[in-house]
Amino acid sequence: MLDLGCGAGQLAHDPATNGAADGVGVDLSERMLSPAQAEWTHPNVTYQRASIEEVAFPPDRFDLVVSSLAFHYVDDAGMAVRISRWLAPGGLLGYSTEHPMFTARLPGDGWALSTLINGLVNGRSAQSALE
Ligand SMILES: C[S@@+](CC[C@H](N)C(=O)[O-])C[C@H]1O[C@@H](n2cnc3c(N)ncnc32)[C@H](O)[C@@H]1O
Repeated sequence: MLDLGCGAGQLAHDPATNGAADGVGVDLSERMLSPAQAEWTHPNVTYQRASIEEVAFPPDRFDLVVSSLAFHYVDDAGMAVRISRWLAPGGLLGYSTEHPMFTARLPGDGWALSTLINGLVNGRSAQSALE
C-alpha cells in the first residue's frame, strides 16, 4: 500500500498492522515525517521524503494507493497516469481532497459550510442559503 502525502503516518501504518505486506508513506515535509518515523513505525512500513510530483515506483508495485487531503496541493497533470502505472491490475486508488465548501469564505458571511449548515437548519434550501 502506498500513501501519498502521508503526513504523520497513521494511514500508511494502519494496513500493515492488519496484515498488508508492506506500506510506503511519501511526504514532502520532514516536519511531518518526523512523527511518522518516531511514532508510527512497523517492520513493514517505510517512509520516503519526496514530492508526489517526482517520486517514482516500478510498474504494478502496489495493490492500493491512498491519499488523504494532499492531492489539492499537487500541480501535476500527469499524476493520475503515473499512479495508474504503479497499481497492479485490479488495484485501487482511494483519495480525499479539500473542497471549497469547507474552505471558501463568503463575503461578510463567514465560511461557506457554516453558512450552508445554518441555512439548512433554519429551513432554507442549499441554493438560497448560499446566496
Ligand atoms: C493536510 S496534510 C494530510 C496529511 C495526512 N495524509 C492526513 O490525512 O493526516 C497534507 C500533507 O501533504 C503533504 N504534501 C503537500 N504537498 C505535497 C507534495 N507535492 N508531495 C508530497 N507531499 C505533499 C504535506 O507535507 C502534508 O503532510
